[in-house]
Amino acid sequence: MNPVATKESRCVQTRPGESVMDYQVKDIQLAGFGRKEIGIAEKEMPGLMATRQKYGSEKPLQGVKITGSLHMTVQTAILIETLVELGADVRWASCNIFSTQDHAAAAVAAAGVSVFAWKGETLEDYWNCTYRALTWPDGSGPNQVVDDGGDATLLIHLGYQAEDDPSLLDQKAGNREKQIILNLLKRIQREDPHHWHRIAKDVHGVSEETTTGVHRLIQMAEKSQLLFQAINVNDSVTKSKFDNVYGCRHSLPDGIKRAMDVLISGKSVMICGYGDVGKGSAESMRNERAKVFVSEVDPICALQASMAGFQVCTVEYALPFADIYVTCTGNRDVITAKHMSQMKDQAIVCNIGHFDNEIQVAELQAWPGIQKEEIKGSFCPVHRYTFPDGHAIYLLAEGRLVNLGCATGHPSFVMSNSFTNQILAQMDIHNNLDRLIGVYRLDKKLDEEVARLHLAKLGVRLTKMSPEQAEYIGFPIEGPYKPDHYRY
Ligand code: NAD
Ligand code: ADE
Repeated sequence: MNPVATKESRCVQTRPGESVMDYQVKDIQLAGFGRKEIGIAEKEMPGLMATRQKYGSEKPLQGVKITGSLHMTVQTAILIETLVELGADVRWASCNIFSTQDHAAAAVAAAGVSVFAWKGETLEDYWNCTYRALTWPDGSGPNQVVDDGGDATLLIHLGYQAEDDPSLLDQKAGNREKQIILNLLKRIQREDPHHWHRIAKDVHGVSEETTTGVHRLIQMAEKSQLLFQAINVNDSVTKSKFDNVYGCRHSLPDGIKRAMDVLISGKSVMICGYGDVGKGSAESMRNERAKVFVSEVDPICALQASMAGFQVCTVEYALPFADIYVTCTGNRDVITAKHMSQMKDQAIVCNIGHFDNEIQVAELQAWPGIQKEEIKGSFCPVHRYTFPDGHAIYLLAEGRLVNLGCATGHPSFVMSNSFTNQILAQMDIHNNLDRLIGVYRLDKKLDEEVARLHLAKLGVRLTKMSPEQAEYIGFPIEGPYKPDHYRY
């Protein structure tokens, strides 16, 4: 890829005599630094680099217009450039206002991709960036979407529904972010009342990265609202059992330490939720020699946590003694403002689930007499909230993903697994344009292939079954080695 693009080559004409840059990043001069970090990360992403080698000359995504809404990090830069190498025409926005690594965004923009992302976006910027990533200079939209949490998918679907029933845009929003989305859609509808119908008819599918986004897709499919096929990348084993577990095991303590520089050892940590993210998060805190407590609603996960040696209790039980709280549920209102009003002085509160509603941030800010102070700016957001009784708590990343808001997210090797699945999913959509609308998973063989691509880097020597063993156990020598329903 050409690492430096001239400004002129990146201008698009909007109206006669008027042009705008077809990317928006914090500082394009950071591209050189970004390129150096991308160079390091490429060596840690064997799955993506092997995919480039295997398909680069064939260009299986030639001319396919792809919009991405996924954290604009160094690792994502390599995903984007792999899609480009496979022939795609890519536009990108982040899926979180704090997760962009500005040098990575600059490097990708300088190499010619239209990126709309910077660290510390306002919510208005955020949704406008998503819209720009969905809109090509000629007014057309994507053929395929890479989504993380479902915001790009939501904008298309809500815009589409509101063209059929404009009163949807006058509904009571319920929160500030929803109102911002409704305002944006109203503006687009005024400019072009058929915009989203025109866009949606050319979208063939979406590949969804995370648990929360998959929940949203399944809900839409159940209501028969889904407009195109969706691939659930999250539930590939080489995604959720690696990224969600081992990725968070690395990046949760990274986020807490960069934010607070506090010793975790000896402290009491309350982990809310013991699914994949909770398992990695709890283990990381135990590795720091903290005393770890877990809350769960699911009796199976609660039993698992207990068998792993964690004390399972409610948030209310932990309030008198816990020093650090981490939400990992994908659910809402898990830590309430009332909980925070009863926490120990200097307690640290953060979230590693996808959205910021796991902690009641708006209610905290509205607490009578509360005082809010900024400790660190948007490069690593930390705020102190002091209650009228004098006790204070620290809220990290304003209740958004702490590992991406206060640190740099998961490391490259784990993201190589996730993103190789994303590439396979994008090719799968393109190869199955006529598939019925629904939410699908990638074939088990592909999951095994993703794992296989990562073995050499770790010096793994795999055992090969003999034909007699394969016949005895009932699996083919070349896999798949487990039935589809097998729980890892
Ligand atoms: P999961 O479904 O495996 O686990 C969530 C767990 O939370 C479940 O076991 C559920 O029973 C439990 N839970 C639900 N409501 C609860 C409540 N009120 N109190 C206590 N426990 C409750 O999901 P997951 O894959 O672990 O993902 C969790 C969240 O993290 C999702 O929002 C996902 O999108 C996000 N995620 C974040 C990252 C990251 O890098 N920060 C990575 C992957 C996933
Ligand atoms: N999700 C978690 N960590 C990430 C990273 N480093 N890049 C993109 N998405 C992520």
